[in-house]
Amino acid sequence: MHKHIVLLPGDGIGPEVVSAARRVLDAVAARLHLNLTYVEHLIGGCAIDRQGTALSAETLRACQNADAVLLGAVGGPQWDDPTAPVRPEQGLLALRKGLGVFANLRPVRVYPSLVDASPLRPEKLQGVDLLVVRELTGGLYFGEPKGRFEENGHLRAVDTLEYRDDEIERILDLSFRLAQNRRRKLTLVDKANVLESSRLWRQIATQMASRYPDVRLDVLLVDTAAMRLITHPANFDVIVTENMFGDILTDEAAVLSGSMGLLPSASLGGSGPGLYEPIHGSAPDIAGQGIANPLGTILSAAMMLRYSFHLEEGARVVEMAVERALAEGCRTRDLGGSLTTEEMTGAVLERLVF
Ligand code: IPM
Ligand code: MG
Repeated sequence: MHKHIVLLPGDGIGPEVVSAARRVLDAVAARLHLNLTYVEHLIGGCAIDRQGTALSAETLRACQNADAVLLGAVGGPQWDDPTAPVRPEQGLLALRKGLGVFANLRPVRVYPSLVDASPLRPEKLQGVDLLVVRELTGGLYFGEPKGRFEENGHLRAVDTLEYRDDEIERILDLSFRLAQNRRRKLTLVDKANVLESSRLWRQIATQMASRYPDVRLDVLLVDTAAMRLITHPANFDVIVTENMFGDILTDEAAVLSGSMGLLPSASLGGSGPGLYEPIHGSAPDIAGQGIANPLGTILSAAMMLRYSFHLEEGARVVEMAVERALAEGCRTRDLGGSLTTEEMTGAVLERLVF
């Protein structure tokens, strides 16, 4: 089987973690008769510097024509001027939209060996294994009107939170199905006591629930959900929520696992390629030092094997290797250890067992 992957290393630690994940993909491919080809393109700040845009039309086209896309991170302080005409993050948003990847899967689990790395008490962390399904191509990130307008001598800044019924239905449908294959619990997180869009999500979810009688649907207001993620994290199975709530709650949930550097994500939807990226950012403070935790990106590559290439075995081999490396004490700096990116990647490669 041949698969073509677009690599988008991006900014900061992006190139370091993407090259680590590529080594793991190559090792898996060699064992599973998978022929992988790669092409690298620019995105984010480096694309702004060299091409004047955060995502060129050519790069987007290359991604659309690939079998899967692996992205590192975008952004950094040198592109952070709020008045700048173009920002690195715009490249990422244009890519998500351009690929139509409306569902962002962010699994959060607690590795027993890392319980001490989390600020929560160990008994709270017992059994934590949740999946956040974040809507990724709608809501405040994309709603129109958006922008700054001058009105009666004042500057007005507008973002719009808008969802259409079909956008809500497709992600709920996927979430119900994901829940069916897990512990059959789906929690819709919204702000239905205030937001009209949330009331539409809730109405559609409640109607759809009868089509999935084996899944228990709960609804939870986002402020309460933020609290429960800390007080009762093990009670969650699948969480589905709109774009910005999902952005915020997944950073919070990452704390459960001990480090942002561990969390992978898969962005899926439509018929095009999936987009895989760690949920951590570009970490400019440690960029170029070779000390970033590569596991979030390596685990994203495992999700690529699972969802884009349907190689469940390959995905599990990688996930098991990560788990064993952690269990056997391998730690990068973010986890209180001293392994370099290279050494941690090597530790995973050594533990790939087919
Ligand atoms: C994420 C990030 C992005 C987002 C930023 C970099 C635009 O925080 O993937 O969670 O808000 O979606
Ligand atoms: Mg985020």
